[in-house]
Amino acid sequence: MDYIKRIAITGGAGFIGSHLVRRMVQRYPQFLVVNLDKLTYAGNLENLSDLKDAPNYAFEKCDIQSLEAINAVFKRHRITDVIHLAAESHVDRSIDGPLEFVYTNVVGTVNLLEAARSAWADSFEGHVFHHVSTDEVYGSLGTDGFFTEHTPYDPRSPYSASKASSDHFVMAYFHTYGLPIKMSNCSNNYGSHHFPEKLIPLMINNILHEKPLPVYGDGSNVRDWLWVEDHAAAIDVIFQQGKLGESYNVGGLNEWSNLDLVHYLCDLMDRKLGKEEGSSRALIKFVKDRAGHDHRYAIDATKLTKDLGWKPSLRFEEGLDKTVDWYLSHPEWIENVTSGAYKAYYEKFYE
Ligand code: NAD
Ligand code: DAU
Repeated sequence: MDYIKRIAITGGAGFIGSHLVRRMVQRYPQFLVVNLDKLTYAGNLENLSDLKDAPNYAFEKCDIQSLEAINAVFKRHRITDVIHLAAESHVDRSIDGPLEFVYTNVVGTVNLLEAARSAWADSFEGHVFHHVSTDEVYGSLGTDGFFTEHTPYDPRSPYSASKASSDHFVMAYFHTYGLPIKMSNCSNNYGSHHFPEKLIPLMINNILHEKPLPVYGDGSNVRDWLWVEDHAAAIDVIFQQGKLGESYNVGGLNEWSNLDLVHYLCDLMDRKLGKEEGSSRALIKFVKDRAGHDHRYAIDATKLTKDLGWKPSLRFEEGLDKTVDWYLSHPEWIENVTSGAYKAYYEKFYE
């Protein structure tokens, strides 16, 4: 079949990437989706086992730190478009070891830009390179105000510094070479298939196993939570209808302090697990704060709503309910990602 677009989605085996890949494969049979992923600890093909036999889906194990490897995938699949999500994504890991964040998030992004620039050198017409970024590039807010597309960049962790750097390279390729780029900067996502090192899945997993619930500092830091499938919908509309050379903020208009959120999860899970009220809250343990911990993130997504008609589809309480139900009904998923058994899945099906 001759596809209208042949899209490389990088990081497609990760949390957000797997939701996006599923959406694009199922909604658009006229597009070929090539999932390009190195399968780090955070990449899990089991997330996409339902798509294994889809005719418009292909998987390529590829490290974006290697330009040669990317070029080979571009050539093999005649890639026409890129949606770039592959990254080292965990702030705490970046504090522990920043270099891998530079190699993947900065050098990897520039490698992808170079691959696209040379593969599409005849004409950039009709191609799109969509870079998926984060609200963390804007730094930290006080008690009021929102991040808009015009907020100056002020990254404060090695993770956000590496994402900010990649954003600047993406914009530089637009201005210098005219590469057809689009960009989106999103707030915190939650939902199914979220690796249990991040706040919400870590708390769910620890509540289930009656382990301590580590709240950094005094728990007053605020995040703006968005359901992962709403983020995938936003990327889809920006990729297909957004303006070239522009960035779009994506957010949930849904601010919660970490402590309020952990309390809410504890009470929800006590009800679902038939436990005595307050028993999970008793597991909360205040621990040493994250170094350079950004106080508050909050996104103004007016541009995306006004220009492209996107808005979040799900109330947070509903989304958390669905998310907790998913983890409760998939204990083997948590077991596999924490034990590394999912690597066996890859070897069985792909090697
Ligand atoms: P994730 O850590 O769950 O997944 C990252 C994926 O990238 C994994 O599948 C991993 O194997 C792959 N990868 C890592 N290094 C690679 C390399 N060198 N080559 C190829 N593949 C590699 O991350 P996520 O939470 O799904 O985030 C995806 C993207 O969205 C990231 O760019 C992140 O910065 C951005 N983002 C995340 C959030 C969030 O709340 N999680 C919010 C806004 C933006
Ligand atoms: O804002 C978007 C960003 O959201 C993305 O760019 C990142 O990839 C993603 O990881 C996320 O970053 P955060 O640092 O906000 O997410 P995390 O889940 O690590 O932490 C959320 C908040 O909870 C933060 O204030 C730190 C706190 N926290 C986190 C963990 C893991 C705790 O209090 N205890 C914990 O054990």
